[in-house]
Amino acid sequence: MNVLITGGAGFIGSHTADLLKKKGYKIKIMDDLSPPVHNGEWPDYVQGKGYELIKGSVTDKKQLIEAMKGVDYIIHLAAYQDQMPDFSRFFMVNTVSLSLIFEIILEYKLSVKKIVYSSSQFVYGDGIYISEDGQEFFPELRSEEQLKNKGWEVTDIKGRSAKFVPFRENQKINPTNSYGLSKMASEAMALRLGRTYNIPVSILRYSIVQGARQSPRNIYSGALRIFVTQALAGKPITVTEDGNQLRDFVNVEDVARANILMIESSKTDFEIFNVGGGKGYSIKEFAIMVKEITKSDSEILIDGRFRRTDTRNAVSDIFKLKSIGWLPINTPEKSIKDYVNWIKEEGFDVEKIVENIDRGHRRLV
Ligand SMILES: NC(=O)c1ccc[n+]([C@@H]2O[C@H](COP(=O)([O-])OP(=O)(O)OC[C@H]3O[C@@H](n4cnc5c(N)ncnc54)[C@H](O)[C@@H]3O)[C@@H](O)[C@H]2O)c1
Repeated sequence: MNVLITGGAGFIGSHTADLLKKKGYKIKIMDDLSPPVHNGEWPDYVQGKGYELIKGSVTDKKQLIEAMKGVDYIIHLAAYQDQMPDFSRFFMVNTVSLSLIFEIILEYKLSVKKIVYSSSQFVYGDGIYISEDGQEFFPELRSEEQLKNKGWEVTDIKGRSAKFVPFRENQKINPTNSYGLSKMASEAMALRLGRTYNIPVSILRYSIVQGARQSPRNIYSGALRIFVTQALAGKPITVTEDGNQLRDFVNVEDVARANILMIESSKTDFEIFNVGGGKGYSIKEFAIMVKEITKSDSEILIDGRFRRTDTRNAVSDIFKLKSIGWLPINTPEKSIKDYVNWIKEEGFDVEKIVENIDRGHRRLV
């Protein structure tokens, strides 16, 4: 069976390719190798493994037609991920690319058996909260003024405290930025076009994915990259808000298994699944884990900095995916260790990365 992985030179794609190879699949990777994740060259970890490597963009129809020929399954991972105000680019790369995939299947009568679309926990936004009097509500983004006054918690319209509810696949989605909006549009498109033209699709909403090969150059790659590089550079580990915001972390090898389950189980056709670690950690707890694993002397600095469109809590309920036999096997500690080892082996200049993180954060919206 032939599998095309778009964005396969990236973090999740390359781990998915390695696992597919072990299982005997033939793999094509399409990637534009663009900065900041890449420097135009194929990374070592996809070379010499027998993968067919196609340098091209998922936004270019001609290149995509070539990549899609003779393919049984498509795992669509290529994406623009950031928090910048170039709003249209998110839709061009993340959404228009998916519409091209459907268009090409119909136009060239390709016998693609399934499309797996990589969505994100980000589509939930702040999700659902329950107020003190038991009312469920979908909070609006916390205002800049609230955040400047260190009002970190989500409150109901009367300003009273409220309880966060872990995200379930069937709840209303409410993304807080263009990245999440582009994923939301793609999900809707995948389900509609998939059903109309009888092309099975599965949608995976990953939580924060962690492990080796997560590009330290990608501004968007989150707490693991930021904390590990700061810890290794001996710089303060900078935690946003008060550090009590919750997140769930899932290891990339577990995510690769989830991707493959989508192409191997017809029970997943036209379904959406959360793919998460199953447990919420506070960001402060996670910073402490990184500090311990890296044996760093860095202080953990919690000085009230914040990012305008961050959600307060983001933890996914993974009951649905567990009910079809998937479990997150690897711990966040393993992900941190794998990432630290990889950063050291590759010889990244951690001081420079930390400088870029500081510069990058000043550009975020
Ligand atoms: N890593 C996470 O925590 C996470 C969480 C939720 C969702 N996701 C989603 O999973 C997918 C994979 O993410 P990742 O973490 O592996 O990111 P990544 O940046 O490591 O990989 C994405 C790959 O896509 C490629 N790409 C970007 N634009 C392209 C284009 N126009 N044409 C061809 N290739 C292009 C990049 O060069 C990169 O190799 C993305 O769709 C992302 O939105 C990731």
